[in-house]
Amino acid sequence: MSHPIGTLLLLGASGDLAGRLLMPALGQLLDAEPERRDVVLVGAGSEDWDDETWKARVRAAFETAKVSAEAVDDVLAATRYVKADVTDAEDLRSVIESCPPPPALYFALPPAVTVNACKALQQLSLPPGTTLALEKPFGTDQASAASLNDQLANLVPETQVHRVDHFLGRSTVLNVLGVRFANRLLEPLWSNEHIERVDIVFDEQLTLENRARYYDSAGALMDMIQSHLLQILAVITMDPIANIDAVDFRDAKAQVLRACRPWNGDPVAAGRRARYTSGSIEGRQVPDYTAEPGVDPGRNTETLAELTVEIDNWRWSGVPFRLRSGKALKERRKEVLITFKPLPHLPSGLRGDPIPDQLRLVMQPDRVSLEMNMNGPDDPFDLDRVALTVDLNPGRLPAYGEVLAGVMDGDPLLSVRGDTAEECWRIVDPVLQAWAQDAVPLLEYPAGAAGPPPLEGTTGSTRW
Ligand code: BG6
Repeated sequence: MSHPIGTLLLLGASGDLAGRLLMPALGQLLDAEPERRDVVLVGAGSEDWDDETWKARVRAAFETAKVSAEAVDDVLAATRYVKADVTDAEDLRSVIESCPPPPALYFALPPAVTVNACKALQQLSLPPGTTLALEKPFGTDQASAASLNDQLANLVPETQVHRVDHFLGRSTVLNVLGVRFANRLLEPLWSNEHIERVDIVFDEQLTLENRARYYDSAGALMDMIQSHLLQILAVITMDPIANIDAVDFRDAKAQVLRACRPWNGDPVAAGRRARYTSGSIEGRQVPDYTAEPGVDPGRNTETLAELTVEIDNWRWSGVPFRLRSGKALKERRKEVLITFKPLPHLPSGLRGDPIPDQLRLVMQPDRVSLEMNMNGPDDPFDLDRVALTVDLNPGRLPAYGEVLAGVMDGDPLLSVRGDTAEECWRIVDPVLQAWAQDAVPLLEYPAGAAGPPPLEGTTGSTRW
C-alpha cells in the first residue's frame, strides 16, 4: 500500500506549524534515511516571499533540528515558494500543476481555512496518487467531521487521506504494540478480569503560549482528549492484530472506539472541567487564562479536562478509563497508568500492604515501569514496593517525523481513518454539549497547582 510522493506541498508554509514542527521533522526524516526519499519541498502561503526568503526559513527550521548539511543542501537545491491564496481554485491549480507528481498536499492551516481549501479543490481534477494530509482538529463535531469526510472522499481515495495525529508517531505509543504483542506475559492479563482501571494523563506545565486564536475556541477536551488521548486509548485496548499494517491496525482501533462511551452513558457525571487562574510555575509568573490576549472569558474555555469512559465489550466492560489533560499545572505528568486488581489473597506471614501492581508507560522521557511488591531488603517477610524501570530509546524520529514518513511513503498506518475521526467526536460530543449548557461547573485552579481539588470521597490512588 505504499505510494511514495514526488512533492511535499506545504499549504500554509509561512505559518507557525510549518516552521516550528513540520519542516524540522522533514529535515530529520530526510537526514535519517536519505536514500529512500526523493521529494521536492514546495511552500505555498499568503506571505509575499521570494525564494531566498523561503530558503532562509527552511534553513532556519532545519537548524533547530540539527539536520546535516547534506540533507539541507539537497532540499534547498530544489525547494521553492509560491505566493497563493490556498482557498482559491485557480491558485491551487497552478501550484499543483507545477509540482513533480504525485503531490502530497499538507494543510498546515487553521481548520476553517482547511475546509475552504478542500472546497476549492473540488473544482480541480487532482493528479493520480495525490495525498492529502490534515491536522487536528478534524471538524468541530461528528456532523462536521462527516461532512469533511464526504468532501475528501470526492477528491481522493480514503487510503490517500492522512488525518494527522502526531501522538500515533510517539515512540511510547508505538511501543505499546511491542509491549503487548511481542510478549506472552501481559496479554493474558489485559482485560477486566485483571485490570482495575486505566489512567491516560497528559498534564503540561505549558500555558496558552499565544495560541488563543485556536485554543480559546477548542479547549482541553477538544484539543487533547478528542484526538490524542482517545487514540492512545484505542492502541491500549484494541484486540491483538495479525499484521501491523494500515488495514488491521486501523480496523482494530475503530472497533474498540465504536464500543466506547462516557462512563455509565452519562456525559454530565463522566467529566470535569477547569480553567487556570493566575499563579506561578517553577518561579514563572502566569497570568489568569482569561487575561491572556485573544481570550474571550465568555466562552468559558476549559484548560483542563477529565473524562472517564467505558468500553462496552467483553474484554473491558466495567473498567474505567480516565482521560485527563491540562495546562499550567504544577508537574508534567504524561503517562498511561494501568492499575491491576488487588490480590485475591496475601499469605499470612507476609507483612505489609500489597499495593496493586501498576504498569506505567511514560512519555517524554519515554520509559516503561512495572511496579510490584517484592520481599523487603531487611526482613524478607516484609513487603517492599519496587519498580522495574527501563528508559526507552527515544526512537529514530520525533513523533512528527514518524507521521510525516507515512505521508511521504503513502502509508496511512499512523493516520486516523475517516470513520474513526467521526467516532471520536461521537464519544465527546455529548460531553461538549453538556459543558456548553453549563450542566457541569467550570472549576478553577491557580497556575502551578495540581489541578482543581479532587472530587469529594476520592483520595490517594483514586485521585487524578
Ligand atoms: C498539540 C496540542 O496537539 O499537542 C497542544 O494542540 C499540546 O496543546 C501538544 O501542547 C502536546 O504535544 P507535544 O508533542 O507538543 O508534547
